[in-house]
Amino acid sequence: MRDAVAIVLAAGSGERLGLETPKAFVPIGGRPMLARAVGSALACPRVGLVVVAAPAGAEDLAHAIVEPFGAHAVVTGGPTRHASVRAALAAVPDETASVLCHDAARALATSDLFSAVLEALAGWDGVVPAVPVSDTVKRVRGEMVVGTESREELALAQTPQAFSASALRDAHARAMEAGLEFTDDAAALEWAGYRVRTVPGEPANFKITTAEDLARAERSIEEAVRG
Ligand code: CTP
Ligand code: MG
Repeated sequence: MRDAVAIVLAAGSGERLGLETPKAFVPIGGRPMLARAVGSALACPRVGLVVVAAPAGAEDLAHAIVEPFGAHAVVTGGPTRHASVRAALAAVPDETASVLCHDAARALATSDLFSAVLEALAGWDGVVPAVPVSDTVKRVRGEMVVGTESREELALAQTPQAFSASALRDAHARAMEAGLEFTDDAAALEWAGYRVRTVPGEPANFKITTAEDLARAERSIEEAVRG
């Protein structure tokens, strides 16, 4: 039953990566991050459509990359991640019950993770894959350490995140009205009072932000190919 729509956010420029090409089009192991992200989304048996938010002017390129994987739409992203989510949400069919939000920059997420967050959505408004924090986390003001966080209550959030479409639409609309921007979609739902749960994330599903991350992703794909 292909009852879910996946939004893949690919409209960022990748400033911290520092290449000419927008980050989502940068290849890892010979395949653009966008192809990897969309391929994993559509390999999930419950995903029937992918909506890609692409950088302005790169919509045709995004379309060409995504075409082989199946049902998709491409929209022009906005100046912030939030604006890109809103643009993509407008292209999600009204009758859709569940929506996934996924960063193309997490190109190594598996299709099993898409399935896991969708499955865990029953009875909840949102689901976030999360991995435990292994470092000790300090609260710092300037140079001064003002506290040490209790690690048991901390987790690092990943994408894909799964949401009830109505909760996601409502949380985003209210956040925009309030002039608030969050770093992930779950945060908008939390702020709006919705119930969000976690499922185990994937340690290999790190966000590719810097040149070091890109090199690490290349290595992990090489290792996977070698077996
Ligand atoms: N994103 C987006 N629209 C924006 C900004 C970001 O769709 N206006 C997407 C990116 O393409 C990425 C994801 O949101 O897949 C997470 O953002 P980030 O890793 O910060 O990517 P960039 O914004 O491209 O990188 P940077 O912040 O270094 O410029
Ligand atoms: Mg960014």
